Amino acid sequence: MEVKRIQSLALEELKEVPPQFIRSASERPENSKAIEGVTVPLISLSQPHHVLVKEIAEAASEWGFFQITHHSISEKLIQNLQKVGKEFFALPQEEKEGYANDPSNGKFDGYGTRMTKNLEEKLEWVDYFFHLMAPPSKVNYHMWPKHPSSYREVTENYKKEMLRVTEKVLEVLSEGLGLERKTLKSKLGGEMIELEMKINMYPPCPQPHLALGVEPHTDMSALTLLVPNEVPGLQVWKDNNWIAVNYLQDALLVHVGDQLEVLSNGRYKSVLHRSLVNKEQMRMSWAVFVVPPHEAVIGPIPSLINDHNPPMFSTKTFAEYRYRKFNKLSQ
Ligand code: OGA
Ligand code: NI
Repeated sequence: MEVKRIQSLALEELKEVPPQFIRSASERPENSKAIEGVTVPLISLSQPHHVLVKEIAEAASEWGFFQITHHSISEKLIQNLQKVGKEFFALPQEEKEGYANDPSNGKFDGYGTRMTKNLEEKLEWVDYFFHLMAPPSKVNYHMWPKHPSSYREVTENYKKEMLRVTEKVLEVLSEGLGLERKTLKSKLGGEMIELEMKINMYPPCPQPHLALGVEPHTDMSALTLLVPNEVPGLQVWKDNNWIAVNYLQDALLVHVGDQLEVLSNGRYKSVLHRSLVNKEQMRMSWAVFVVPPHEAVIGPIPSLINDHNPPMFSTKTFAEYRYRKFNKLSQ
């Protein structure tokens, strides 16, 4: 089925966005501006361990979101990741279409643009590329971009760093719940924990005040580790306001996702977030979703449950969770 790509639409240099992109009045960025003067937590990984545990646990509980610095990922590697992603989206349209995905038939991997399932649903001003990065036994490299030719090597190197940072953050978050360090990773499948890459590409938009890049949502992941390009756009929801996330070179943006909210029985919050688009500049972001394998059973960790803390979420396999949320069925 032919899908209209946002990148192709942007090339038409329209004066107005097509009606399917125009948000309802309350959802429009022009009517739901971020408040000023509030900034998201910024946490250095090089602090003394007990300080790190306290800061990350606090940020995960109060915000479900934080930026980390001193993560030891080389600047060069982040630049290379951004370079190969940009080069992929600059390929001729026909070549990109060779990777087209088809979520309605369960084929999520590849090049995609969201389609609506019903008339009321609005479209998002973003194209993306999605593929699995880990564990090695499940990765299908045929699904990865073949051009630029360095895509695979760069992305493999980035994956190693994502695994290292994931492990560290999950250890700290486990300790923040008073649990043994390895607990969260082991609940998320241990060595079978999965990393998915989603490269978001937001072309310039003629009426950014009326449209959204990504509509308000929480991530289904346990954690999402994201680097943007230098163009701002991400906003997180806190205390009934949108807060704009400032761009900080080389910071890694960490979202707490639904699976950690469930495992922690609500102590850690899955952050609601959205992204805005922009009239002049292309925005890009590289989101790595840390998810359990499909068969992992995710529910509130038993030692966190007592008479004062009854379970707030049901226990189900990640496959079931994902299927229900994807189809927007109630949980
Ligand atoms: C996402 C997302 C935000 C961004 O892809 O789930 O929330 O900054 N992206 O691109
Ligand atoms: Ni998200």
